[in-house]
Amino acid sequence: MAVFVSHSERETFLWAKEYAKGLSPFDVVLLKGEMGAGKTILAKGMIAGMGISDEVTSPTYAYVNEYGGRVFHFDCYRVESEAQALGLGLADYFGRGVCIIEWSENIAGLLPAGAKVVKISGEEGVREIEF
Ligand SMILES: Nc1ncnc2c1ncn2[C@@H]1O[C@H](COP(=O)(O)OP(=O)(O)OP(=O)(O)O)[C@@H](O)[C@H]1O
Ligand SMILES: [Mg+2]
Repeated sequence: MAVFVSHSERETFLWAKEYAKGLSPFDVVLLKGEMGAGKTILAKGMIAGMGISDEVTSPTYAYVNEYGGRVFHFDCYRVESEAQALGLGLADYFGRGVCIIEWSENIAGLLPAGAKVVKISGEEGVREIEF
């Protein structure tokens, strides 16, 4: 486990952009941290680091946003059960591209083995990123 200390949203974005360069095409990355910790900022950096220039927004209605047909950004905050997640087809994305997942705790039983974990925590502009 390594730690990077970020002092701004921008630093977090740039760290994530570099981190993503080490990902393989079907990796699953679990972004862990409290509400407002910076998970979506990490996802934005990672998606940029994979060479995708689309604007990244938080997945809302569909729970998953797709980028370039090869990156899937999940926000499982509002997922109520694994049965619901299965019904929504959320497990079908694994193996189709890189999957970057916020609030993966809500679909814990559906996650493939070997997922990578990136944890972010802190306050007042400073964040510790464990990876
Ligand atoms: N060093 C930092 N790194 C990342 N974000 C930071 C940092 N310092 C302050 N922030 C702020 O923290 C907030 C992080 O928001 P973000 O939407 O990424 O959180 P989140 O973990 O995705 O929350 P949610 O669980 O609600 O989806 C932003 O407002 C950002 O500007
Ligand atoms: Mg978020």
